[in-house]
Amino acid sequence: MTIRKHFWLLAIPTLFLSACASSESKTDKKIDQLLSKMTLVEKIGQMNQVTSTGMSGDMKGLINGGNVGSILNEMDIKTINKLQRLAVEESRLGIPILFSRDVIHGFKTIFPIPLGQAATWNPQIVEDGARIAAIEATSQGIRWTFAPMIDVTRDPRWGRVAESCGEDPYLTGIMGQAMIKGFQGDSLSNPTSMAACAKHFAGYGATESGKDYNTTWIPEVQLRDTYLPPFKAAVKAGAASFMCSFNDINGVPSSANVHLNKDILRDEWKYDGLLVSDWGSIQEMINHGVCTDLKEAAQKAMLAGVDMDMMGYAYISHLKELVESGEVSEKLIDESVRNILRLKFKLGLFDNPYVQESVIKPLYTDVALEKAKQAAIESAVLLKNENALLPLTEKVRTVAVIGPLSDAPADQLGTWCFDAEPEHSVTPLAAIQKMYGDQVKVIAEKGLTYSREKSAEGIAKAVRAAQKADVVLLFLGEEAVLSGEARCRADINLPGDQNKLIEAINKTGKPIVMVIMAGRPLTIAKEMEMADAVLYAFHGGTMAGPALADLIFGKAVPSGKLPITLPRMVGQIPIYYAHKNTGRPATDIDLIDDIPVGAAQTSVGFSSYHLDAGDSPLFPFGFGLSYTTFQYSEMSISASGISMNDSLTVACEISNTGKVDASEVAQLYIQDMVGSLARPVRELKGFQKVRIKAGQTQKVSFTIDAEMLEFCHADGIFRAEPGTFQLWISPDSQSGSPEIFTLKK
Ligand code: GLC
Repeated sequence: MTIRKHFWLLAIPTLFLSACASSESKTDKKIDQLLSKMTLVEKIGQMNQVTSTGMSGDMKGLINGGNVGSILNEMDIKTINKLQRLAVEESRLGIPILFSRDVIHGFKTIFPIPLGQAATWNPQIVEDGARIAAIEATSQGIRWTFAPMIDVTRDPRWGRVAESCGEDPYLTGIMGQAMIKGFQGDSLSNPTSMAACAKHFAGYGATESGKDYNTTWIPEVQLRDTYLPPFKAAVKAGAASFMCSFNDINGVPSSANVHLNKDILRDEWKYDGLLVSDWGSIQEMINHGVCTDLKEAAQKAMLAGVDMDMMGYAYISHLKELVESGEVSEKLIDESVRNILRLKFKLGLFDNPYVQESVIKPLYTDVALEKAKQAAIESAVLLKNENALLPLTEKVRTVAVIGPLSDAPADQLGTWCFDAEPEHSVTPLAAIQKMYGDQVKVIAEKGLTYSREKSAEGIAKAVRAAQKADVVLLFLGEEAVLSGEARCRADINLPGDQNKLIEAINKTGKPIVMVIMAGRPLTIAKEMEMADAVLYAFHGGTMAGPALADLIFGKAVPSGKLPITLPRMVGQIPIYYAHKNTGRPATDIDLIDDIPVGAAQTSVGFSSYHLDAGDSPLFPFGFGLSYTTFQYSEMSISASGISMNDSLTVACEISNTGKVDASEVAQLYIQDMVGSLARPVRELKGFQKVRIKAGQTQKVSFTIDAEMLEFCHADGIFRAEPGTFQLWISPDSQSGSPEIFTLKK
């Protein structure tokens, strides 16, 4: 009896694994059978992705000839089904079309921008948001999204920092995996599952001067240490597709980058998903100056393993002649078509190609809106709270709600939310009036009607409103259009006259709660001094208003932590926590105004800092306050050293020493004190978000092993080196006292 029972226990995983293997082989058999029937033109047709022109003649012609594999941006369900019927029922082989759309941080129910979602340090809420986006988008016929964007970046001048998960490879990797899991669900064949797309592969976040589409210079070691880890994590998470980035790396555009797309993605990582170009990125290699014409661009992209040409018309125009002339092997075409067909089979498109038109669409459900609100609550980072101004108490009888973002339903959604409906947004003003209007008198005066406005008259009105209030709730930041793709700024101050607005209100002497709603870190050092409390809320999405109202009035407690450094000045960029120590780490800082007139050249220090900014950020990566306080005990460490194949445990106790229950993000940082290459002063290697009741204590622990200590060597291989390491369990990337441990041979 016992043996038989144990036998079945052992058999189950074997049966499961063999079931997966057999389904893969079944799919591969179907792909081979279909491929064998396809003409060269039909194969190339699958590699062509175009944006929808509805039921136009061109569209019908392309489909009838089997010349389109995927369509993006068709948002009418009936049209999707009509186009699909043309492909499935009228083209020669009936291969279904893959309909796609950028669903980056929500489809109809908009979640905080990904940078804000990263500030939650809560992978579950991020996964939930992606799952909701998939349910909403697939109900409209979309089965492939171009997300997550997992480009690490340390440059807030770059507009696409909004779409990123910030400056850290580890946090970005965790968040990217959560989004992939949410988008793709338990099985791609589920009609509510949407293929994810890890983008932009790779190094896009290193764009020179923070200007979009610009060149990047990334040494192989840094590429592998900093920019590739989130993409490798995406492969592990089963990302169904990858997208090439627009940029060149050291002169080689990603759409022609054999080393990136073949050596690393296919050969090292064994990736068998679909690699799609970015919009026109194959064609743009002519602009890059690496291709003479579209034919050469098609050839280079094909040789670099780009499976599908998004809106470049390179493949559809030139691949046939390139194959017929022998300049491109049909084997390469077959590999790409296999990758495309494999995704379509996995999505179940051959069995269920159509989207249900009649059912009531699951949009803006109570669950979706509640999750979006929770995500917005957890994405807000409390930077300052002088005299515990927040949360407002019943002593506050009148509030003035002021600022261009106080009632901006479209702007609070942020960038990349094509299908959003601002009429569904709940703004901070609307939420405060509705949810707390019976508790306080609300005086509303935007002052500036949009973030770039310059208006002395508007500011005067705002001042008058402020004078009637006990506290001013000031919502500042950026319009959505100042953030996202190609929305780069050389100066990242608050736009327009917002600084004059806060200056004028500050003169009234009223306490100010400043809430920043933006798509990037802004340089707000001066404004910080004038505000008593500051919440950095990014663009918080549909439910930003209710989230901020609950935070301001205390029904919710801030738990966000910065996923990216806030610089004091734009000239400090790039400034990030995981920096190198340099040969002259900043000491004896003499700031520019402290240097005596006529001081001798050698009278001021010679170390690494800016005379007019010092060497520290305004706020560091990982920073965020709460309405309570947390005390970290000394760490306990299970061993003073480990060998290459064992591990140690490090733990500490975190006490909630305040009066409210709250969540804290305990962060694990490690420093390799001496390496064959200079190593960062700290690197995030783990985190735990824990909820601790007032007065209670909770233990957090992490396991450290040699793999966590590896870094890329000049030969491209990741190795850990024996030596001494420091580690911290801390509330941000600057605080805490380290423990020492060693890694032995
Ligand atoms: C854009 C973006 C990319 C997006 C694609 C389709 O230019 O770079 O992120 O997915 O085109 O809209």
